[in-house]
Amino acid sequence: MTVAQAASVGPSLTLLSEHEMIRQTAREFAQKEIAPIAGHHDETGEFPSATIQKMGALGLMGIEVPEEYGGAGLDTLAYVLALEEISKVDAAHGTIMSVNNSLFCHGLLKFGTEEQKRKFLVPVASGRTIGAYSLTEPMSGSDAATMKTRAVREGDHYVIQGRKSWVTSAPVAEFIVVFTTTDPAKGHRGITAFIIETNQPGFSRGKTEPKLGIRASATSEILFENYRCPVSNRLGEEGEGFKIAMTVLDAGRIGIAAQALGITEASLEASVSFAREREAFGQRIGEFQGIQWKIADMKARIEAARLLLYQAALAKTASRKTGQRFTLEASVAKLFASETAMFCSHEAVQIHGGLGYSKELPVERYFRDAKITEIYEGTSEIQRMVIARSVLGLR
Ligand code: CAA
Repeated sequence: MTVAQAASVGPSLTLLSEHEMIRQTAREFAQKEIAPIAGHHDETGEFPSATIQKMGALGLMGIEVPEEYGGAGLDTLAYVLALEEISKVDAAHGTIMSVNNSLFCHGLLKFGTEEQKRKFLVPVASGRTIGAYSLTEPMSGSDAATMKTRAVREGDHYVIQGRKSWVTSAPVAEFIVVFTTTDPAKGHRGITAFIIETNQPGFSRGKTEPKLGIRASATSEILFENYRCPVSNRLGEEGEGFKIAMTVLDAGRIGIAAQALGITEASLEASVSFAREREAFGQRIGEFQGIQWKIADMKARIEAARLLLYQAALAKTASRKTGQRFTLEASVAKLFASETAMFCSHEAVQIHGGLGYSKELPVERYFRDAKITEIYEGTSEIQRMVIARSVLGLR
């Protein structure tokens, strides 16, 4: 990758042809298919099944998964470029895509057995069905190791009881990677992961979350009452669940940074168009220094977020060969990109004034959608904790 002339708004890097191709594919799809429906799905909260199916057919739901397991066989940079383009038009589609790719497919690819990959990864990576990931519980969020959902082994099955919350795509997912405790006395070393088949008895869905933003993505609680999970559906060994959860979240956080970057770009583009057209006090508002400084701050932060994101993506691709963790790069990218999304969407509303506050324009949606990127897959405070521990050599 070489640094090229920066465009006034938009990517300032020259990409390899395969990367440019997937970015173009995602961009065209988002503009043609998602842009016309995004406002409606935000308003109604209706899950956008038709467009998600089409994204599956385009290979966008398992970008990094090898072709033999139903995916597109590309690298992490390809994934983030595509996710950025989708999220630029609609962050809710970005959430669904991100959870499917990073939280479900990445975990199955890295920790699944051959049989599990054939049975669960192939249909999800190829976009025929949807996968989800469930770590959080009503009383266990940032402190993830304190989960209470319990799995007890009985012969060739585990019996699972408990309640998980804030599960993205749970209302539509066929398979969910769920983290439970198999030995509460061991704390995080007693946590075990399972692949749950949602059509089996003992599984049900609880309340759906009425959310501030990313409203077209479906989020609900899930409940287990004597759910019998075959041992063959255990992901990894007993007690390995916490490390699996954290490893998968490293990948997920890169996805959220890409989603956040998409929101920043949409916010800047809308602001630039508006500042070029709108007149006040006898001139276009873009000619006022007050607006120019906002645009300049947005642009500078966006370009910094982009470099951090692409650096994290390259680190993740390199880890396929080296096996090295990319925890630090992922947390830095997520922290900076999500705070930039909040900053840029806030400035975009301000630049648009009353129109920015109106549902007539998508700018208020960018503002509502941006907030979740500072919360899910680890809050900004958790990212700062992870970064500081790494820099200080505490973990
Ligand atoms: N990769 C691999 N292993 C890791 C790791 C990583 N990134 N991070 C920690 N570990 C390992 C440690 O090495 C340690 O291993 P040992 O057992 O050998 O000691 C073990 O995990 C425990 O680590 P810590 O002592 O650091 O654990 P902690 O209890 O202090 O917690 C934490 C660390 C970073 C705060 C973690 O709990 C965390 O990330 N919390 C946030 C959870 C989160 O992001 N939740 C969002 C869920 S998904 C979601 O948002 C919903 C959705 O659908 C999108």
